[in-house]
Amino acid sequence: MTTRPNNLDSYWMPFTANKQFKKDPRMLVSADGMYYTSDDGRQIMDTAAGLWCVNAGHNRPKIREAVANQVGELDYCPSFQFGHPKAFELANQVAELFPEGMNHVFFTNSGSESVDTALKIALAYQRTIGQGTRTRLIGRERGYHGTGFGGITVGGLVKNRMYFGSLLTGADHLPHTHNLAKNAFSKGCPEHGAELANELETIVALHDASNIAAVIVEPMAGSTGVLMPPKGYLQKLREICTKYGILLIFDEVITAFGRLGTATASDYFGVKPDIITCAKGLTNGVVPMGGVVVADYIYDTMVEKADSPIELFHGYTYSGHPIAAAAGLATLETYREEGLFERANDLAPYWEHALHQLKDEKNVIDIRNIGLVGAIELEPMAGKRGYDAMVEAYKQGLMIRVTGDILAFSPPFIIEKGEIDQIMDTMRRVLNTID
Ligand SMILES: Cc1ncc(COP(=O)(O)O)c(C=O)c1O
Repeated sequence: MTTRPNNLDSYWMPFTANKQFKKDPRMLVSADGMYYTSDDGRQIMDTAAGLWCVNAGHNRPKIREAVANQVGELDYCPSFQFGHPKAFELANQVAELFPEGMNHVFFTNSGSESVDTALKIALAYQRTIGQGTRTRLIGRERGYHGTGFGGITVGGLVKNRMYFGSLLTGADHLPHTHNLAKNAFSKGCPEHGAELANELETIVALHDASNIAAVIVEPMAGSTGVLMPPKGYLQKLREICTKYGILLIFDEVITAFGRLGTATASDYFGVKPDIITCAKGLTNGVVPMGGVVVADYIYDTMVEKADSPIELFHGYTYSGHPIAAAAGLATLETYREEGLFERANDLAPYWEHALHQLKDEKNVIDIRNIGLVGAIELEPMAGKRGYDAMVEAYKQGLMIRVTGDILAFSPPFIIEKGEIDQIMDTMRRVLNTID
């Protein structure tokens, strides 16, 4: 087992209170199935699939073997002007899982890169079809689209934007859909708020559709604290985008690969966007990889109408990396063989029931859920309450995810009902321990 270095100073940890962490580190040294092992030898249940990515659970044999074998077979292959079979096979299999008519996959290394890639494809496509004035990008308040400049420009989390200058020009934001006064303790999609999609009409009226390239939203917003789309909201957004020739991008970095019990959230909600981003569950978090899946008409048009032999001046050294592709293929095989998306779907009602049992616990102002995702929103305390809950949960053997004072849960799909009960029992104790 790896031991803890004496000096923790050099590693600048992302999205982490470095000073606090280094005083009292939460150090994980191994993982198997539903559990991490901490460096003090405790079993910590993973209630968050790592960071929403380890959908099949940890240390899965097929994935482990595929990665190990790939290192010896083909460790790297240039991604520009050369290819290797596994990247093509993975693209085929992803296309098979994603909505009909979306059969082209551009590989990236992360969700952030997928988002920036999707925005660039949208802009380049509009230009290719002679709509070069369509340059504005529309995101949403409270949206999280990763940390690239494109992603934080269309994103709507204030802290992720406020330190970083003027961002990209020409972005607008739809209002967020969170409304506790009307929708608290909703099960699944909330009843109220579909009309908020009509705000897109206001933005169109302000700028004219001829200046707008794309709208990007998370079909279910995860990182902001789990916000489900109000019933009918995504359908309305789709209608308005279609009416004005605006591309609709679903950021499915969290939702793709089974999180809602279907291959994609597009499937789950029955709404087909023009472009879908993904990452995380694509390789079960084992090797970094993301993808952008585009509608056939976008790819075909860009390839046919390109004004130079290369139709898209964009890509990464590690696009379609052989080891990531091997991990991706083994991950999809694991999902298929074990019926894990169906399992997530089957567990969803049990999950919903168990989670909502915490309704009357101390400081709980909302509980919400969809698929194998849940959130407990606590009476706000500027993030302190959420942080304390995370630390206390870790002491009591759970790894949970927090955003401000919202606790988010997204366990691996291999979770057993008894483990769901265990999460709720522990969380009850945690909520009663913290202020
Ligand atoms: C919807 C969404 N988009 C983009 C990202 C960024 O992904 P990454 O951290 O892999 O860059 C995330 C990460 O949580 C996400 O939830």
